[in-house]
Amino acid sequence: MALPEYIKALVNTNDNGNPGVEVKTLPFARTFKVARLPADHLVVKARAFGLNPTDWKLTIGDWAESAGTGKVVGYDMAGEVVAAGPDVHHLKVGDRIAVCQFGTYYQDNGAFADYSVVDSALGFKLPESVPFEAGAALLVRLKLHRCTSRYLHTSQAGAYTAMQAIHGRLHIPLPSSGEKVNKTIVIWSAASAVGHGAVQLAVNAGLKVIAVASPRNHSNLRELGASACVDYKDADAVAKIKAAAGGRIDFGIDCVGVDNSSDSTVAAMSEGGHLISIMLASSTALALAQSKNIKVEFILGGTLHGFEFNIAALGGQKVPVIPEDYALMKKWTSTEMPYLFERNALKAPKVRVMPGGLHGIANGLKIMREGAYGAEKLVYSAQS
Ligand SMILES: NC(=O)c1ccc[n+]([C@@H]2O[C@H](COP(=O)([O-])OP(=O)(O)OC[C@H]3O[C@@H](n4cnc5c(N)ncnc54)[C@H](OP(=O)(O)O)[C@@H]3O)[C@@H](O)[C@H]2O)c1
Repeated sequence: MALPEYIKALVNTNDNGNPGVEVKTLPFARTFKVARLPADHLVVKARAFGLNPTDWKLTIGDWAESAGTGKVVGYDMAGEVVAAGPDVHHLKVGDRIAVCQFGTYYQDNGAFADYSVVDSALGFKLPESVPFEAGAALLVRLKLHRCTSRYLHTSQAGAYTAMQAIHGRLHIPLPSSGEKVNKTIVIWSAASAVGHGAVQLAVNAGLKVIAVASPRNHSNLRELGASACVDYKDADAVAKIKAAAGGRIDFGIDCVGVDNSSDSTVAAMSEGGHLISIMLASSTALALAQSKNIKVEFILGGTLHGFEFNIAALGGQKVPVIPEDYALMKKWTSTEMPYLFERNALKAPKVRVMPGGLHGIANGLKIMREGAYGAEKLVYSAQS
């Protein structure tokens, strides 16, 4: 298939101190990345785009200044493979895939574009039954009919980060091992995208899950397999988590990093436990964790991409390569996602399909910044 000379892409801008986004025309077919496609990379024609909180923070939020300008926005997308390097083995031309890009980082590549160049390690094949819009939100239609209530959502960026927490840092055996772990985990902000993925992966691995979320999400979280649910606004949340566990809580994931989320998660956990935090834990939490001999690890989904990068969220700080994370990612997309799909082991998120294609995304970013989206995933169809 002949690749287009030019494509449309959503890039970040800054007009006299006012950060924003704009759809621009960029050269494509003759750019270095496309003309010299790395052997393990793909060219993907976009069919749907999924939004993450990181997208608005990097473009119209606190991280916009550090992010610079002229970068192609977007992490999550689904589309068709139109070219594949010779070292790509788990995907091929014509496959329908979902993929997580590195958004608002490159001037010539990102998820929110007509076409993009992607590392095959970050992509997995979508079953025919999963629409592109669902794929861009990692939605698995297979069990949608059983998922009767609202407020479920997830995302690839979120799901990959959940996978990194559960299987990478907490060393829970991968799904295809079939091994089960007889321990308890508390997942704070379990209805968030990361939390939703974490609950499912933890349940799948046999862990007893205490999910912390707003009451409106409790029935859905129970449906996903959480043993107990606690409201984070409840003044007795920590005591209720401990009571629900009825024994040791060895693992914790703080999936939100706001207010007292890390303090409370540590407070609920047992001596000698292991907490994963996806935003920096508070100093109170770190002090408490030290006194309880709880290991606290901050993770960045970005290290799953396999290269050194500067993180705008931390003022441009350099983040080194973590080879084990990239190896885990490759295994996850090539063997674990197909394994989970085959067993129907991931359940449907709630997706809100938004109008306007690439041009509509600016509005979605504002909706997310205002927090006006509930527990659902905003997705845009690509307009071909
Ligand atoms: N470290 C990384 O690499 C990484 C990766 C992905 C995301 N993140 C960051 O992690 C955060 C979550 O991302 P996401 O995509 O999962 O977000 P999201 O899906 O947009 O999260 C929305 C959910 O957060 C919950 N929430 C809001 N305030 C809360 C609080 N005080 N306590 C507990 N839960 C609360 C709400 O749950 P209820 O509906 O139950 O109230 C809401 O449904 C974002 O800040 C994002 O930037 C970091």
